[in-house]
This record gives sequence, structure tokens and C-alpha cells, in this order.
Amino acid sequence: MENFDVIVIGAGPGGYVAAIRAAQLGKKVAIIEKRKTLGGTCLNVGCIPSKALLDSSEEFDKAKHKLGDHGITVGTVKIDIKKMMERKDKVVSEVTSGVEYLMKKNKITRYMGLGKFISKTEISISSDDGKTETIEGTNIIIATGSTPIEIPPLPIDGKTLITSDHAIALDEVPNHLIIVGAGVIGLELGSVWARLGAKVTIVELLPRLFGTADAATASYTQRLLEKQGLTFLFETKVHGAKVKGKKVEVEIEAKDGTKSILDGDKVLVSIGRRPNTDGLGAKEIGIEFTERGRIKVKQNHFQTNIPNIYAIGDVIDGPMLAHKAEDEGIALAEMLAGKAGHVNYRAIPWVVYTWPEVAWVGSGEEELKAQGIEYKVGKSMFKANARSKAMNEPDGQVKVLSDKKTDKLLGVHIVGPRASDMIAEIAVAFEFGASAEDIARSTHAHPTLSEVIREAAMDADAKWSIHS
Ligand code: FAD
Ligand code: NAI
Repeated sequence: MENFDVIVIGAGPGGYVAAIRAAQLGKKVAIIEKRKTLGGTCLNVGCIPSKALLDSSEEFDKAKHKLGDHGITVGTVKIDIKKMMERKDKVVSEVTSGVEYLMKKNKITRYMGLGKFISKTEISISSDDGKTETIEGTNIIIATGSTPIEIPPLPIDGKTLITSDHAIALDEVPNHLIIVGAGVIGLELGSVWARLGAKVTIVELLPRLFGTADAATASYTQRLLEKQGLTFLFETKVHGAKVKGKKVEVEIEAKDGTKSILDGDKVLVSIGRRPNTDGLGAKEIGIEFTERGRIKVKQNHFQTNIPNIYAIGDVIDGPMLAHKAEDEGIALAEMLAGKAGHVNYRAIPWVVYTWPEVAWVGSGEEELKAQGIEYKVGKSMFKANARSKAMNEPDGQVKVLSDKKTDKLLGVHIVGPRASDMIAEIAVAFEFGASAEDIARSTHAHPTLSEVIREAAMDADAKWSIHS
């Protein structure tokens, strides 16, 4: 039986990054993945294909609605869904084979098949062709990720009732896409199909977007998305869906108890994801789980109740984000090599890739109020920014929240073009414990979108914003 210093189960952004970092630090590493391609949910059916489609649909929207303002006339703008999907598949194939290359480069042994604990140190790997082999590891990392939550009233059939796995691979634009859950997937994939011509209705249990994130930022985003044609039904329950040929009737109930039927052609169920531990054998060897079914680990240590077994990424508590999984993978690999790995959860950015994009780090106003923290607010609008004007992208705002006494940054909330790239500055600022004044006094190149962040920081520091 082959023996490794570290065995990683699951080759998503948590697992493959942990494997690379452990190998860099001199460990003999194996990685087990049941999919044929590496990269996990994120590269195969998550972050990357969804962003490829968001980018394609943004180009389509631009050609249809925005180029005219720049004095550019294009002929009839058409979409070729097949070609769009082929491009998306090519992007996916390039990034997943990139991970394959990285495994080879770092001399990581790759096993294809389902990994299952047969003891605290032994993992059996069953491949599709029925073969099984067993390997042994001193330390084992569970990085098995997550899968979509399914609920009895909405049984997924992959054709009419679908998850994100299917919604990134439709072969035609639905006439009416009903989305259950106004979370990140609902907003991103809802945006894709709305831009391509679908009527999109999003049914949400809660009264607002983004759960606990900043409420004013959420309602501002909601208004922008409504202008783009997305319809939201908040505080609405879904009782069931009846498939009738190629159509579907969704029974909903509004807050006041009124029941009605929504007629559509597809129902995307995006109500969250659950940790993936099916067939892993974790329970059988005595690994403890949280009440919500995630693997229980010591915070910032990633160690389960069995000392040589660790877990990272979507399968443990915390936000289900690729960069969170990656950072946990790096921190854990460093700890296993005797270094001081650490993840600063306060500095993890959230990004929603609608257009404009939404990105934030830290607390919203409601959370600060609930914690009794006194804070200052600074704001700036993209419409006052010269680069936004040049780009013809006036929608968006930045809100900076800093401590009333110390001015230390507590939360920064951006809605605006390329907020996904701009939020990196804020994540670094949080890592360095920066104040609003630190941002305000740092030179930001002119003319750039990032100047809106600086203006909001000036406003938060002492109301000395120059351009508004
Ligand atoms: P995963 O990426 O889920 O990888 C786990 C891997 O383990 C899988 O490949 C699985 O096949 C394998 N596996 C499971 N069990 C076994 C077993 N027993 N044996 C062998 N292999 C096994 N996050 C972002 O930060 N940004 C985004 O833009 C973003 N967009 C997303 C869009 C969509 C549509 C979805 C669904 C998710 C998105 N996410 C995004 C979330 C992101 O994909 C996850 O947070 C991330 O992939 C988690 O990484 P992970 O390594 O923990 O698990
Ligand atoms: P989510 O947790 O973001 O949102 C689910 C939404 O569904 C919530 O608003 C919830 O209130 C609602 N909901 C739950 N049950 C419901 C019901 N029965 N009826 C109506 N609404 C209901 O989950 P989502 O969108 O499925 O995404 C899963 C995870 O994937 C996200 O939490 C996120 O971590 C990750 N992701 C990240 C992305 C990014 O970083 N840009 C993009 C896509 C996904």
C-alpha cells in the first residue's frame, strides 16, 4: 500500500490548493477526485462557467443596448447559444487542465475515483470501472465541497426543475425562468438569462437580498436589477411545481396568505448548498459533524475530532466561497509543515457578479448597530466619477463604514462596474488594519473607478470628499 504524508480528498479550490502548498513545503502528497476533471465545483460547474456566461451575456447586452451611446452602430445583434456554451466549455477545459498540469508540476499523485475512509489513516478509492485500491496517509484533508440543496416540493429532474449545474448548460433561452432563492446563484444566473432574453421571476422567502449584508446596499442593488427586468417576489413561499409537458406551474404563497400560480418553462432551484459527505465514510470512522451537517473542526485549525484528519472549504462552517476554501487550504498545508498558517475571516471579500457588480468586506450598518459599535459613514457615487462617465457606466455607489473613534475600517460596500477587482484594495486594507483616512490619503490613479472608493473614504474620515 502506498503511503503519503498528506492525502487530500476532493480537488476543488480548497483541495488542489492545499495539495500544491503541501507539496511546495516538501510533503509527499496524493489527491483523490471522483470527477474526471480537477478543479471541483468552482472550475467545472461554478465560478468559472458562470462567469464565462456572465461575460458573454454582458457583451450581448452591451452590443444591444450600450454601444449606440458610444456612436457605434452594429447590425442586428443575435445570439448563438450553442457557440456561447462551447466557449464556456473551452474556458472550463482550459482551467481544469491547468490544474492537471499543476498537479504534475508539483509531483502530486492523482487518483481518480470516490475516496472513502476505511480507517483513520486508510482511504479506499473506487473508480468507475469497478477497481478499488487503498492508500495510506499520515494526515488526511477532507475537501469534498458541496452540492445544491434539494427540497421535496421541487424535485430536480434536470430538465424543467434544475439546479445551477443545468442552468449553466441550457441549449435555448427559456421564455420564463422562475428562480427559487434570491441568493448569489439566483442573481448571477438570473442576470445571464434575463440579458439573453428570458423573463426572470425570482421567488425569495426573506424580505430582502443578501441576508445579513448591508441592507441599503442590498436595496440599491435590487432597484438596479429590477431596472434590468428581473422581478422579485419577496416573503413568498413555494409550495410545489407541476410539470406539464414543456411548461411548469409553480404554486406560490405571498406574505398575506394569497396563493397563486406562476407559469414558466424552467425552475432554477438555488436555495443554498449542502456539504458533500455522501459515500465518504466519515461518520463510520467517528468524525463529528455540526448540527447543520458540516464537518466539525477546531476554528482556524481545521482539525476534526480525529487528530490526523482535517477539513477545509465548503464542507466546514463559513461562507461557501472559492477564495475562502483556497486560503484555508494554504493555511492548513502551512500548519502541517510546522508553519503558522492563518485565515483572517474578517477580511474575506464577497462578490456578486451581476452588472454592476456588488462587493463587500466587513460589516453592514445593521450588524454594527446590533453590536452597539459606533461608526461613521462615507459615501460616493460612480456618477460623479470621470472614468465612469467616460465608460458610460454611471450606476453604482461606495459606502465606507469606519469606527467613530479610531476611524478603523469596519465595512466597505461597493456596487459598481468592476467592483470585483476593486474590492482587493479593501481586503488588503483590512489585513493591515487600515483606517478610512489611510485610504483617503493613498494616491489613487486618475482617472480610475477606484477613485470612488477614495472619495467615500474621504467622506467617512471627516467629510472632505473633493468631488461630491
Ligand atoms: P468543491 O469545489 O465543491 O470541490 C470538492 C470536490 O470534491 C468536487 O470536485 C467533488 O467531486 C470532490 N469529491 C467529493 N466527495 C468526494 C469523494 N468522496 N472522493 C473523491 N472526490 C470527492 N465562489 C466564489 O468564491 N466565487 C464565485 O464566483 C463563485 N461562483 C459560483 C457559481 C456557482 C454556480 C456555484 C455552484 C458556486 C460558486 N462559488 C463561487 C462557490 C465555489 O464554487 C465553492 O465555494 C468552492 O468550489 C468550494 O471549494 P471546495 O474545494 O471546498 O469544494
Ligand atoms: P444562497 O445561500 O446565496 O442563497 C439562497 C437564497 O435562497 C437565500 O436568499 C434564502 O433565503 C433563499 N431560500 C432558501 N430556501 C428558500 C425557499 N424554500 N424558497 C425561497 N427562497 C429560499 O445560495 P445559492 O444562491 O444557492 O448559492 C449557494 C452558495 O454558492 C452561495 O452561498 C455562495 O456561497 C456560493 N456562490 C458564490 C458565488 C459568488 O461568490 N459570486 C456565486 C454563486 C454561488
